[in-house]
Amino acid sequence: MDKKITVIAGGVIGSSFPIVFALGGYNVVSYNKWKEEEEKVKEYIDNALNTLVNQKIFTSEEKNSILSRISYTGNIEEALEDVYYVQECLPEKYEIKQEFIKEFEKYAPDEAVMGSSTSGLLISEIAKYAEKPERIIGAHPYNPPHLIPLIELAKGEKSSDEAIKIAKEIFEASNKEPIVLNKELKGFVSNRIQAAVFREVISMVLDGAVSMEDADKAVTFGPGIRWGIMGPGLIFELGGGEGGIETLLKHIGPSLESWLEDLATWTEIPEEAKEKIPDMVAESLKNRPKEIGNDRKSLLKYRDEMLLDILKLHDKF
Ligand SMILES: NC(=O)c1ccc[n+]([C@@H]2O[C@H](COP(=O)([O-])OP(=O)(O)OC[C@H]3O[C@@H](n4cnc5c(N)ncnc54)[C@H](O)[C@@H]3O)[C@@H](O)[C@H]2O)c1
Repeated sequence: MDKKITVIAGGVIGSSFPIVFALGGYNVVSYNKWKEEEEKVKEYIDNALNTLVNQKIFTSEEKNSILSRISYTGNIEEALEDVYYVQECLPEKYEIKQEFIKEFEKYAPDEAVMGSSTSGLLISEIAKYAEKPERIIGAHPYNPPHLIPLIELAKGEKSSDEAIKIAKEIFEASNKEPIVLNKELKGFVSNRIQAAVFREVISMVLDGAVSMEDADKAVTFGPGIRWGIMGPGLIFELGGGEGGIETLLKHIGPSLESWLEDLATWTEIPEEAKEKIPDMVAESLKNRPKEIGNDRKSLLKYRDEMLLDILKLHDKF
Protein backbone atom coordinates (compact mmCIF):
# COMPACT_ATOMS: atom_id res chain seq x y z
CA MET A 1 0.00 0.00 0.00
CA ASP A 2 1.62 3.27 -0.98
CA LYS A 3 -0.29 5.53 1.42
CA LYS A 4 2.14 6.88 3.99
CA ILE A 5 1.20 6.94 7.67
CA THR A 6 3.20 8.76 10.31
CA VAL A 7 3.14 8.14 14.05
CA ILE A 8 4.17 11.21 16.03
CA ALA A 9 6.25 10.53 19.19
CA GLY A 10 7.22 7.22 20.68
CA GLY A 11 6.06 6.96 24.28
CA VAL A 12 3.83 4.20 25.65
CA ILE A 13 1.26 4.52 22.86
CA GLY A 14 3.41 5.83 20.02
CA SER A 15 5.82 2.87 20.30
CA SER A 16 3.02 0.42 19.62
CA PHE A 17 1.09 2.22 16.84
CA PRO A 18 3.65 1.67 14.04
CA ILE A 19 2.99 -2.08 14.38
CA VAL A 20 -0.78 -1.50 13.89
CA PHE A 21 -0.38 0.25 10.55
CA ALA A 22 2.47 -1.96 9.33
CA LEU A 23 0.18 -4.95 9.97
CA GLY A 24 -2.37 -3.23 7.75
CA GLY A 25 0.22 -3.20 4.97
CA TYR A 26 0.96 0.54 5.18
CA ASN A 27 4.37 2.15 5.05
CA VAL A 28 4.79 3.76 8.44
CA VAL A 29 7.14 6.46 9.62
CA SER A 30 7.84 6.74 13.33
CA TYR A 31 8.80 10.33 14.15
CA ASN A 32 10.85 10.84 17.30
CA LYS A 33 12.32 14.17 18.19
CA TRP A 34 15.18 12.56 20.11
CA LYS A 35 17.51 9.78 18.94
CA GLU A 36 17.30 7.95 22.32
CA GLU A 37 13.53 7.84 21.93
CA GLU A 38 13.88 6.35 18.46
CA GLU A 39 16.12 3.61 19.89
CA LYS A 40 13.52 2.84 22.57
CA VAL A 41 10.76 2.58 19.95
CA LYS A 42 12.87 0.17 17.87
CA GLU A 43 13.49 -1.96 20.96
CA TYR A 44 9.79 -1.93 21.91
CA ILE A 45 8.72 -2.97 18.41
CA ASP A 46 11.32 -5.72 18.25
CA ASN A 47 10.26 -7.12 21.66
CA ALA A 48 6.54 -6.89 20.82
CA LEU A 49 7.03 -8.73 17.52
CA ASN A 50 9.29 -11.33 19.17
CA THR A 51 6.49 -12.09 21.64
CA LEU A 52 4.12 -12.62 18.72
CA VAL A 53 6.67 -14.88 16.99
CA ASN A 54 7.17 -16.88 20.22
CA GLN A 55 3.41 -17.27 20.51
CA LYS A 56 3.41 -18.66 16.93
CA ILE A 57 1.29 -15.77 15.63
CA PHE A 58 3.94 -14.73 13.11
CA THR A 59 6.90 -16.44 11.54
CA SER A 60 10.32 -14.74 11.62
CA GLU A 61 9.86 -13.94 7.92
CA GLU A 62 6.54 -12.20 8.65
CA LYS A 63 8.21 -10.28 11.46
CA ASN A 64 10.91 -9.08 9.05
CA SER A 65 8.32 -8.08 6.49
CA ILE A 66 6.45 -6.01 9.15
CA LEU A 67 9.73 -4.40 10.22
CA SER A 68 10.57 -3.54 6.61
CA ARG A 69 7.45 -1.35 6.42
CA ILE A 70 8.50 0.81 9.41
CA SER A 71 11.04 3.61 8.99
CA TYR A 72 12.27 6.29 11.37
CA THR A 73 13.05 9.97 11.25
CA GLY A 74 13.81 12.83 13.61
CA ASN A 75 13.03 15.39 10.91
CA ILE A 76 9.45 16.65 11.14
CA GLU A 77 9.34 17.96 7.57
CA GLU A 78 10.38 14.58 6.23
CA ALA A 79 7.91 12.83 8.60
CA LEU A 80 4.98 14.83 7.24
CA GLU A 81 5.91 15.10 3.59
CA ASP A 82 3.28 13.34 1.40
CA VAL A 83 1.63 11.83 4.45
CA TYR A 84 -1.92 10.44 4.16
CA TYR A 85 -2.74 9.97 7.84
CA VAL A 86 -1.00 11.04 11.06
CA GLN A 87 -1.49 9.36 14.43
CA GLU A 88 -0.48 11.94 17.05
CA CYS A 89 0.81 10.36 20.29
CA LEU A 90 2.21 13.42 22.09
CA PRO A 91 1.74 14.01 25.84
CA GLU A 92 -1.76 14.76 27.10
CA LYS A 93 -1.38 18.57 27.01
CA TYR A 94 -3.29 21.02 24.82
CA GLU A 95 -0.26 23.29 24.21
CA ILE A 96 1.93 20.44 22.94
CA LYS A 97 -0.76 19.05 20.62
CA GLN A 98 -1.73 22.52 19.38
CA GLU A 99 1.93 23.34 18.72
CA PHE A 100 2.28 20.16 16.67
CA ILE A 101 -0.77 21.06 14.56
CA LYS A 102 1.12 24.15 13.33
CA GLU A 103 3.81 21.84 11.95
CA PHE A 104 1.20 19.46 10.57
CA GLU A 105 -0.44 22.32 8.67
CA LYS A 106 2.91 23.58 7.44
CA TYR A 107 4.38 20.31 6.12
CA ALA A 108 1.58 17.81 5.50
CA PRO A 109 -0.49 17.85 2.27
CA ASP A 110 -3.83 19.73 2.52
CA GLU A 111 -5.89 16.52 2.36
CA ALA A 112 -3.96 14.69 5.10
CA VAL A 113 -5.93 13.69 8.22
CA MET A 114 -4.66 13.78 11.80
CA GLY A 115 -6.04 11.50 14.52
CA SER A 116 -5.13 12.38 18.09
CA SER A 117 -4.61 9.57 20.59
CA THR A 118 -5.88 11.80 23.39
CA SER A 119 -7.62 10.01 26.26
CA GLY A 120 -9.40 12.97 27.71
CA LEU A 121 -8.84 16.27 25.89
CA LEU A 122 -11.49 17.84 23.67
CA ILE A 123 -10.83 17.57 19.95
CA SER A 124 -12.38 21.00 19.37
CA GLU A 125 -9.86 22.49 21.79
CA ILE A 126 -6.90 20.58 20.29
CA ALA A 127 -7.93 21.90 16.86
CA LYS A 128 -8.77 25.40 18.15
CA TYR A 129 -6.01 27.26 16.27
CA ALA A 130 -5.99 25.01 13.20
CA GLU A 131 -6.59 26.58 9.82
CA LYS A 132 -8.35 23.39 8.71
CA PRO A 133 -9.89 21.84 11.85
CA GLU A 134 -12.13 19.67 9.69
CA ARG A 135 -9.29 17.19 9.14
CA ILE A 136 -8.46 16.79 12.84
CA ILE A 137 -10.23 14.02 14.75
CA GLY A 138 -9.81 11.88 17.86
CA ALA A 139 -8.52 8.33 17.38
CA HIS A 140 -8.42 6.91 20.87
CA PRO A 141 -6.63 3.58 21.34
CA TYR A 142 -6.57 1.11 24.20
CA ASN A 143 -3.15 0.17 25.48
CA PRO A 144 -1.33 -1.55 23.81
CA PRO A 145 -2.84 -0.55 20.45
CA HIS A 146 -1.09 -3.32 18.52
CA LEU A 147 -3.06 -5.88 20.57
CA ILE A 148 -6.36 -4.30 21.63
CA PRO A 149 -8.72 -4.02 18.64
CA LEU A 150 -10.84 -1.04 19.76
CA ILE A 151 -10.22 2.43 18.31
CA GLU A 152 -12.69 5.19 19.18
CA LEU A 153 -13.01 7.78 16.45
CA ALA A 154 -14.43 11.08 17.64
CA LYS A 155 -15.35 14.31 15.92
CA GLY A 156 -14.69 17.75 17.30
CA GLU A 157 -17.14 20.55 16.51
CA LYS A 158 -15.52 21.15 13.13
CA SER A 159 -14.23 17.69 12.15
CA SER A 160 -15.56 16.41 8.83
CA ASP A 161 -17.30 13.11 8.13
CA GLU A 162 -14.74 12.60 5.38
CA ALA A 163 -11.85 12.67 7.92
CA ILE A 164 -13.65 10.07 10.05
CA LYS A 165 -14.26 7.92 6.95
CA ILE A 166 -10.57 8.01 5.98
CA ALA A 167 -9.44 7.01 9.48
CA LYS A 168 -12.08 4.29 9.70
CA GLU A 169 -10.91 2.76 6.42
CA ILE A 170 -7.29 2.74 7.60
CA PHE A 171 -8.13 1.08 10.91
CA GLU A 172 -10.41 -1.48 9.28
CA ALA A 173 -7.64 -2.33 6.80
CA SER A 174 -5.37 -2.78 9.84
CA ASN A 175 -7.80 -5.33 11.38
CA LYS A 176 -8.85 -2.99 14.21
CA GLU A 177 -12.43 -2.39 15.35
CA PRO A 178 -13.08 1.34 14.95
CA ILE A 179 -16.24 2.80 16.45
CA VAL A 180 -17.51 6.31 15.70
CA LEU A 181 -18.71 8.77 18.34
CA ASN A 182 -21.25 11.24 17.02
CA LYS A 183 -20.38 13.85 19.63
CA GLU A 184 -17.53 14.62 22.01
CA LEU A 185 -17.80 12.53 25.16
CA LYS A 186 -15.47 12.82 28.16
CA GLY A 187 -13.65 9.51 28.52
CA PHE A 188 -15.02 8.25 25.20
CA VAL A 189 -17.33 5.21 25.36
CA SER A 190 -15.01 2.55 26.75
CA ASN A 191 -13.59 4.53 29.67
CA ARG A 192 -17.08 5.59 30.77
CA ILE A 193 -18.19 1.96 30.85
CA GLN A 194 -15.05 1.00 32.80
CA ALA A 195 -15.58 3.89 35.21
CA ALA A 196 -19.19 2.88 35.91
CA VAL A 197 -18.21 -0.74 36.68
CA PHE A 198 -15.16 0.31 38.71
CA ARG A 199 -17.17 2.73 40.85
CA GLU A 200 -19.73 0.06 41.68
CA VAL A 201 -17.03 -2.52 42.48
CA ILE A 202 -15.22 -0.12 44.83
CA SER A 203 -18.45 0.83 46.43
CA MET A 204 -19.60 -2.74 47.15
CA VAL A 205 -16.14 -3.69 48.46
CA LEU A 206 -15.90 -0.68 50.79
CA ASP A 207 -19.40 -1.39 52.01
CA GLY A 208 -18.20 -4.86 53.07
CA ALA A 209 -20.79 -6.53 50.84
CA VAL A 210 -18.14 -8.54 48.97
CA SER A 211 -14.36 -8.99 49.06
CA MET A 212 -12.18 -7.43 46.37
CA GLU A 213 -11.24 -10.92 45.24
CA ASP A 214 -14.86 -12.03 44.82
CA ALA A 215 -15.91 -8.78 43.13
CA ASP A 216 -13.13 -9.31 40.56
CA LYS A 217 -14.27 -12.93 40.12
CA ALA A 218 -17.86 -11.76 39.61
CA VAL A 219 -16.74 -9.59 36.70
CA THR A 220 -14.32 -12.13 35.17
CA PHE A 221 -16.56 -15.18 35.35
CA GLY A 222 -19.91 -13.44 34.99
CA PRO A 223 -20.61 -10.48 32.72
CA GLY A 224 -16.94 -9.97 31.74
CA ILE A 225 -16.57 -13.34 30.07
CA ARG A 226 -19.72 -12.66 28.03
CA TRP A 227 -18.65 -9.10 27.19
CA GLY A 228 -15.49 -10.56 25.66
CA ILE A 229 -17.79 -12.17 23.10
CA MET A 230 -20.48 -9.50 22.57
CA GLY A 231 -21.75 -6.30 24.18
CA PRO A 232 -24.73 -5.81 26.52
CA GLY A 233 -27.13 -5.02 23.65
CA LEU A 234 -26.68 -8.45 22.04
CA ILE A 235 -26.24 -10.25 25.37
CA PHE A 236 -29.64 -8.98 26.54
CA GLU A 237 -31.17 -9.80 23.16
CA LEU A 238 -30.30 -13.43 23.96
CA GLY A 239 -31.28 -12.99 27.63
CA GLY A 240 -34.87 -12.27 26.63
CA GLY A 241 -35.33 -15.68 24.95
CA GLU A 242 -37.80 -15.73 22.05
CA GLY A 243 -38.96 -12.20 22.76
CA GLY A 244 -35.41 -10.80 22.74
CA ILE A 245 -34.40 -7.62 24.53
CA GLU A 246 -37.93 -6.22 24.28
CA THR A 247 -39.25 -8.98 26.55
CA LEU A 248 -36.22 -8.73 28.82
CA LEU A 249 -36.73 -4.99 29.35
CA LYS A 250 -40.35 -5.66 30.33
CA HIS A 251 -39.55 -8.56 32.66
CA ILE A 252 -36.34 -7.34 34.27
CA GLY A 253 -37.16 -3.63 33.91
CA PRO A 254 -38.73 -3.06 37.33
CA SER A 255 -35.99 -5.04 39.14
CA LEU A 256 -33.30 -3.22 37.16
CA GLU A 257 -34.77 0.11 38.19
CA SER A 258 -34.68 -0.89 41.85
CA TRP A 259 -30.98 -1.93 41.49
CA LEU A 260 -30.19 1.37 39.81
CA GLU A 261 -31.67 3.24 42.76
CA ASP A 262 -29.21 1.40 44.98
CA LEU A 263 -26.04 1.97 42.91
CA ALA A 264 -23.18 4.26 43.87
CA THR A 265 -23.35 7.79 42.48
CA TRP A 266 -20.22 9.49 43.88
CA THR A 267 -18.13 11.57 41.51
CA GLU A 268 -14.98 11.91 43.61
CA ILE A 269 -12.98 8.82 44.53
CA PRO A 270 -13.51 8.40 48.31
CA GLU A 271 -10.41 8.80 50.51
CA GLU A 272 -11.27 5.42 52.01
CA ALA A 273 -10.88 3.83 48.58
CA LYS A 274 -7.41 5.33 48.11
CA GLU A 275 -6.39 4.03 51.56
CA LYS A 276 -7.90 0.54 51.49
CA ILE A 277 -8.34 -0.68 47.89
CA PRO A 278 -4.59 -1.06 47.04
CA ASP A 279 -4.06 -3.37 50.07
CA MET A 280 -7.15 -5.38 49.21
CA VAL A 281 -5.96 -5.84 45.62
CA ALA A 282 -2.48 -6.83 46.85
CA GLU A 283 -4.06 -9.43 49.16
CA SER A 284 -6.22 -10.91 46.41
CA LEU A 285 -3.23 -11.02 44.04
CA LYS A 286 -1.13 -12.89 46.61
CA ASN A 287 -3.87 -15.52 47.07
CA ARG A 288 -3.93 -16.57 43.41
CA PRO A 289 -2.16 -19.72 42.20
CA LYS A 290 1.19 -18.96 40.53
CA GLU A 291 0.07 -20.29 37.11
CA ILE A 292 -2.64 -17.65 36.81
CA GLY A 293 -0.40 -14.92 38.22
CA ASN A 294 0.26 -14.11 41.87
CA ASP A 295 2.55 -11.12 41.48
CA ARG A 296 2.62 -8.31 38.97
CA LYS A 297 5.07 -10.01 36.60
CA SER A 298 3.28 -13.38 36.45
CA LEU A 299 -0.12 -11.66 36.25
CA LEU A 300 1.03 -9.61 33.26
CA LYS A 301 2.31 -12.74 31.51
CA TYR A 302 -0.97 -14.57 32.20
CA ARG A 303 -3.03 -11.61 30.93
CA ASP A 304 -1.02 -11.20 27.74
CA GLU A 305 -1.04 -14.89 26.86
CA MET A 306 -4.77 -15.20 27.42
CA LEU A 307 -5.38 -11.95 25.56
CA LEU A 308 -3.66 -13.40 22.50
CA ASP A 309 -5.81 -16.55 22.73
CA ILE A 310 -8.97 -14.44 22.86
CA LEU A 311 -7.76 -12.26 19.99
CA LYS A 312 -7.18 -15.37 17.90
CA LEU A 313 -10.78 -16.47 18.59
CA HIS A 314 -11.93 -13.07 17.33
CA ASP A 315 -9.77 -13.55 14.21
CA LYS A 316 -7.64 -10.55 15.16
CA PHE A 317 -4.40 -12.49 14.64
N1 LIG B 1 -0.80 5.40 28.12
C1 LIG B 1 -2.02 4.97 27.86
O1 LIG B 1 -2.47 3.94 28.39
C2 LIG B 1 -2.90 5.71 26.88
C3 LIG B 1 -4.07 5.07 26.40
C4 LIG B 1 -4.86 5.75 25.46
C5 LIG B 1 -4.49 7.01 25.00
N2 LIG B 1 -3.34 7.62 25.49
C6 LIG B 1 -3.01 8.95 24.98
O2 LIG B 1 -1.91 8.83 24.08
C7 LIG B 1 -1.12 10.05 24.12
C8 LIG B 1 0.32 9.67 24.45
O3 LIG B 1 0.32 9.07 25.75
P1 LIG B 1 1.54 8.19 26.26
O4 LIG B 1 1.03 7.44 27.44
O5 LIG B 1 2.13 7.43 25.11
O6 LIG B 1 2.53 9.33 26.74
P2 LIG B 1 4.12 9.26 26.91
O7 LIG B 1 4.49 10.34 27.84
O8 LIG B 1 4.53 7.85 27.21
O9 LIG B 1 4.64 9.62 25.45
C9 LIG B 1 4.70 10.90 24.92
C10 LIG B 1 5.96 11.01 24.09
O10 LIG B 1 6.03 12.29 23.47
C11 LIG B 1 7.38 12.74 23.49
N3 LIG B 1 7.35 14.20 23.45
C12 LIG B 1 7.11 15.06 24.47
N4 LIG B 1 7.09 16.33 24.02
C13 LIG B 1 7.34 16.27 22.69
C14 LIG B 1 7.46 17.23 21.66
N5 LIG B 1 7.30 18.51 21.91
N6 LIG B 1 7.73 16.82 20.40
C15 LIG B 1 7.91 15.51 20.13
N7 LIG B 1 7.81 14.53 21.07
C16 LIG B 1 7.53 14.92 22.32
C17 LIG B 1 7.94 12.21 24.79
O11 LIG B 1 9.34 12.08 24.72
C18 LIG B 1 7.22 10.85 24.94
O12 LIG B 1 7.98 9.79 24.41
C19 LIG B 1 -1.79 10.93 25.17
O13 LIG B 1 -2.62 11.85 24.55
C20 LIG B 1 -2.56 9.95 26.02
O14 LIG B 1 -3.68 10.53 26.65
C21 LIG B 1 -2.54 6.99 26.41
